[in-house]
Amino acid sequence: MTTKRSNPIAAIAQTRSNLALAAEPWVGPAEMTEAEREQLIKRIKRLLKEKDAALVAHYYTDGDIQMIADETGGHVADSLEMARFGHEHPARTLVVAGVRFMGETAKILNPEKRVLMPTLEATCSLDEGCPPDKFIPFCDAHPDRTVVVYANTSAEVKARADWVVTSSIAVKVIEHLKDKGEKILWAPDKHLGSYIQQLTGADMLLWNGACIVHEAFKATALAALKAQHPQAAVLVHPESPAAVIDLADVVGSTTQLIEAARRLPNRQFIVATDRGIFYKMNQAAPDKTFMEAPTAGAGASCQSCAHCPWMEMNNLKNLAHTLETGSNEIHVEPAVRTEALRATQRMLDFAHREIQ
Ligand code: 13P
Ligand code: SF4
Repeated sequence: MTTKRSNPIAAIAQTRSNLALAAEPWVGPAEMTEAEREQLIKRIKRLLKEKDAALVAHYYTDGDIQMIADETGGHVADSLEMARFGHEHPARTLVVAGVRFMGETAKILNPEKRVLMPTLEATCSLDEGCPPDKFIPFCDAHPDRTVVVYANTSAEVKARADWVVTSSIAVKVIEHLKDKGEKILWAPDKHLGSYIQQLTGADMLLWNGACIVHEAFKATALAALKAQHPQAAVLVHPESPAAVIDLADVVGSTTQLIEAARRLPNRQFIVATDRGIFYKMNQAAPDKTFMEAPTAGAGASCQSCAHCPWMEMNNLKNLAHTLETGSNEIHVEPAVRTEALRATQRMLDFAHREIQ
């Protein structure tokens, strides 16, 4: 039986005009037995084959979804690698388990493919906090600046940008632009923006956006936890506030943090990013211990909210349903797509040159 739940963040999540018309309302996961779970996993694997589909999942999604992607020749990755993989894989359908901008990026790069998502209601506070009708005039008011936007944005915002970047390549792109003498307009994440600004010394005008998950990490409580575990290394995603980043041993994208967990000699880690990443960290370093960085403490509104409510909207039931019915298809208007592709392809070409 399926229990229909109300969308936990409906107040912020709004349907954008360029998206699929056939969006289905999000349905929360009902309790299921172990036998039902196994049945669903089998059904999804069979459907992926039957529909010539590849599953691309972000590290923050449910462990079972990551496991299915791994076991079916799909991919579990950060947002840059998700974009790259979808581009290179021959499947005619891509199923993107993550948040909406990830599905849109897949469509921008693969217009000939069908791109489906388990739900179209999974958005992102960075994307929602940077509406095109406010962002475009802001760019127009600063024509002397190169517009660099984070991948966590709508297709329309990407279309107005000169560059799209993800957290794994952002510092290198800004260094490159600074070396060319360019002044930057950065959007939407102010924490990532000021981290890059501090690191590179680039002239950056910052949009005032934030990730509700990473912004909740608390520096004072993190310092106290670190004092209790002095041998633990602190891994921080750069969407976190500066005071949290200051306590980090490693700052990086999700892939870079997993790699650090594998590579560093420490046996214990305190991790300031979505706890969904523990699935891959445990695989990468099964003999090490991972602790969530605290989101409690002065001014906190939750005990441990290190989990993205939108990523959590992806589940086995809606994944199976999407594959079965072809619902929740992503569409991007061709004119918007062409412009968004220009800025996104620039990042992929730059990343390609960087690893040569
Ligand atoms: P990554 O590019 O590091 O995977 O980050 C995406 C994201 O949404 C982090 O909150
Ligand atoms: Fe957006 Fe933050 Fe969720 Fe990542 S964790 S998708 S940045 S709200």
